[in-house]
Amino acid sequence: MKIIMLGAPGAGKGTQAKMIASKYQVPHISTGDIFRANIKNGTELGKKAKEYMDQGLLVPDELTVDLVIDRLSQDDCSRGYILDGFPRTIPQAQALDGALAKRGEKMDYAINVDVPDENIVTRMSGRRACTGCGATYHIVHNPSKKGDICEVCGETLILREDDKPETVHKRLSVYHEQTQPLIDYYTEQGILKTVDGTQDMNDVFAAVTKILEA
Ligand code: AP5
Ligand code: MG
Repeated sequence: MKIIMLGAPGAGKGTQAKMIASKYQVPHISTGDIFRANIKNGTELGKKAKEYMDQGLLVPDELTVDLVIDRLSQDDCSRGYILDGFPRTIPQAQALDGALAKRGEKMDYAINVDVPDENIVTRMSGRRACTGCGATYHIVHNPSKKGDICEVCGETLILREDDKPETVHKRLSVYHEQTQPLIDYYTEQGILKTVDGTQDMNDVFAAVTKILEA
């Protein structure tokens, strides 16, 4: 089962990807999480990525593509995986297809979590992210039972730097310009499925499960 999660920033890609990964026991690969872990650990990649992320811009393809292609060759990916936040540009999608074709493989589904821009800014200002394990909460829709502390690892929850409203607007315009064309790209491949991401997160997950088990 090889799945791509598509959708605007804050549409709920990460939330759904974690639920799918847990139900079907396949790895959840989030380029955003990989970059944030590198920033936290002060790596060279992290320093470069941060310059772009803090401005709401995409990290250049040359820093992103090889990282993901390498990750997909690890043993735990043999039964499939969920890509969250990758690909995000047409060149990334072409690079992914090229790498898979060499192994005689292809993606099975691109699931588009559809949420209109109006809902996104309010959703993002309520998101809280764990500085330790990357778990995601929402102050209204999915609060931590421990307040500002992560239920999973006990670290502090923060508002992500790029979730401030000015940066969210920039991320949305970058999404429409560079990532939305992937909807046509995967429609043409016949693997695009769209779910209504404005529903409760469990209802979104039910819609996703229905697609995967059809
Ligand atoms: P990334 O971390 O991927 O951010 P993003 O795509 O902007 O998406 P988010 O993680 O913000 O949102 P999400 O869709 O995962 O939503 P979530 O489930 O958290 O990337 C960050 C940056 O890294 C990029 O801007 C870029 O700079 C760089 N980057 C990453 N990948 C790259 C790539 N391939 N190429 C180049 N650059 C790259 O949900 C959001 C909130 O809503 C949460 O609080 C959640 O609890 C809540 N929520 C979720 N579902 C629902 C629901 N159904 N109802 C109500 N609330 C909900
Ligand atoms: Mg995410």
